[in-house]
Amino acid sequence: MATVTFDHVSKRYGDVVAVNDLNLEIRDGEFMVLVGPSGCGKTTSLRMIAGLEEISDGTLRIGDRVVNDVAPKDRDIAMVFQSYALYPHMSVRDNLAFGLKLRKVPKAEIDRRVNQTAETIQLQKLLNRKPKELSGGQRQRVALGRAIVREPAVFLMDEPLSNLDAKLRVQTRAEIARLHQRLKTTIVYVTHDQVEAMTMGTRIAVMSEGLLQQVGTPQELYDRPVNRFVAGFIGSPAMNFLDVAVKGSGDGTVLEANEVRIPVPPRFRQIVGDGAGSGGRFIAGIRPEHLDIGQAAGDNAIMPATADVVEYLGNEELLHLTAAGQDIVAVVDAEHRVRPGDQLQVIIPLDKVHLFDPESGLSLGAQREATAAA
Ligand SMILES: Nc1ncnc2c1ncn2[C@@H]1O[C@H](COP(=O)(O)OP(=O)(O)OP(=O)(O)O)[C@@H](O)[C@H]1O
Ligand SMILES: [Mg+2]
Repeated sequence: MATVTFDHVSKRYGDVVAVNDLNLEIRDGEFMVLVGPSGCGKTTSLRMIAGLEEISDGTLRIGDRVVNDVAPKDRDIAMVFQSYALYPHMSVRDNLAFGLKLRKVPKAEIDRRVNQTAETIQLQKLLNRKPKELSGGQRQRVALGRAIVREPAVFLMDEPLSNLDAKLRVQTRAEIARLHQRLKTTIVYVTHDQVEAMTMGTRIAVMSEGLLQQVGTPQELYDRPVNRFVAGFIGSPAMNFLDVAVKGSGDGTVLEANEVRIPVPPRFRQIVGDGAGSGGRFIAGIRPEHLDIGQAAGDNAIMPATADVVEYLGNEELLHLTAAGQDIVAVVDAEHRVRPGDQLQVIIPLDKVHLFDPESGLSLGAQREATAAA
């Protein structure tokens, strides 16, 4: 088992900064997911751990050992890629054993590890088949098995599920999570899919354009995103954003977007100030699943809206609305049976409202917490 530590690590290709001053400590036994949009530097970060990319700047450690100049084969890692590239003419058993034979592991030890791995991921009945006699999901399991037999200190996985269809992806996702619970080996897992990140990660590192945005548990990222990027990336459907201006004063201070007025949530009162003082502009964020329709009660704001499109999902409905002159998405109970064209009262619970600085994109809540901690 091992930790992986990025200490001010950068990777440049000519003028392209693929990874920019990355500081990240992956704990022993942790399932760390690197997530972000295409081109943000996930694969490059993973390949630096594997030793397949040279590091332009900084220090990378596996355990206590600086590995900047250690050859890939001496790093005690195993990597699983999106394309599983099994040897087509070899049986599953030989595919699993091949890497160990190359390393001159004794035959009895190879047999022990292959059988144990086959049991761990339920390949026992498939050991004598060739890859072409397997389904896509089974092939991906064999690829996983090839990494498991190595008994590495760290598993590196780059989008290993993206070739599978939706149903198989959900199954294999659970299998990898189960595997992690059993082996308790450190896993660094790359995906652009925030659902995969949220469901599998012990912690998630969100990246954008080569820069680490936030590291935290799934719940921390969902409840307290540090900036607008993370807020919009984590959660599905994505968070709604409204441009709002501060109006009024004292207890009557509101965030106004067109005709909609949202009382300033109590926790933001001090930092937002009032209309007379700051007259500031902010971006208010609210997740679709936190909106509701019907009668408001308690600490809420009301926003008149028109339903444009209704997507019926069985237990819920996904509503595309026009409200405050903007497009808003809400997820509500399917019992509401909303129809296109309906005039609705959308309820905004004040304790679920996020506020972001329009220039920096930083969350006001996160700023407040940083100030409190300082
Ligand atoms: N060999 C290379 N030469 C030049 N630029 C590269 C090279 N490899 C990657 N890059 C650039 O570095 C950046 C990060 O690439 P990387 O492959 O790490 O992205 P990613 O987050 O894995 O994206 P994806 O989700 O599409 O796989 C991109 O802008 C990419 O174009
Ligand atoms: Mg990639």
